[in-house]
Amino acid sequence: MNILEKIDLQSTPEHIAIIMDGNGRWAQKQGHDRLFGHNFGVESVREVLKAAQKANVKYLTLYAFSTENWNRPKEEVDGLMDLLVRSLGNEIDELHESNVRIMTIGDMEGLPSFCQTELRAAYEKTKNNTGVNLILALNYSARWEMVNAIRKLAKKVEAGELAADAINETSVIEELTTKHIPDPELLIRTSGEHRVSNFLLWQIAYSEFHFTEVLWPDFKGEDLYKAILDYQSRERRFGLVSAQIEKNA
Ligand code: IPE
Ligand code: IPE
Ligand code: MG
Repeated sequence: MNILEKIDLQSTPEHIAIIMDGNGRWAQKQGHDRLFGHNFGVESVREVLKAAQKANVKYLTLYAFSTENWNRPKEEVDGLMDLLVRSLGNEIDELHESNVRIMTIGDMEGLPSFCQTELRAAYEKTKNNTGVNLILALNYSARWEMVNAIRKLAKKVEAGELAADAINETSVIEELTTKHIPDPELLIRTSGEHRVSNFLLWQIAYSEFHFTEVLWPDFKGEDLYKAILDYQSRERRFGLVSAQIEKNA
């Protein structure tokens, strides 16, 4: 039986977020430099996106470059920025044809201007598409996002537009870069690391985590489906007890 057929398509996660990790180790294991791994990682993105489309996933968020990743060797950072622009350039027509909408989260102003230009073009071209939302987390860190949100709220209070006591979860969500995006039901991290590395700290409050040893360049559609099956085997209780969940089902 095909693994996709085992998935209950009525209850696939609407939003899957992935910490794509292990490109460097994958390349080094084969005696290549780290950029070789990043290049191969793009093929995994293509395949995982296609698999997500087939499984009815509406939002796919990919952690592509963290704020902390600027501290890597310059050659790697430059290579990653080039790869981003090259890949977008190569893929954009096909993405558009398959009705994918490209979005970004993170501090776009901190990216080199040639990346901003390419991203803006991709965003503009695909903004009316109604298929999968492909959200690239670039120059993203959850703490940056939260500090930013707090600053914006403080400014509203300072300007007398908002009472401090009126701040609630909705007003915080409004200031996050993910404000129009539902929280991910499933968070995947590849490469055997069991950490969050400053990704979506607010949004993953009730996400299910799936960790796999597979390195990102080896992660393919089947691996996404395994993660979805793992997710579907869980009981999400949201603070309730099992009996209450069964009653509401
Ligand atoms: C993930 O792979 C890609 C980015 C962080 C840009 P890594 O480059 O972190 O690969 P490892 O973890 O060193 O193997
Ligand atoms: C997380 O991976 C960031 C991305 C996948 C873009 P890292 O490889 O940077 O995370 P750490 O350093 O292992 O925590
Ligand atoms: Mg890593």
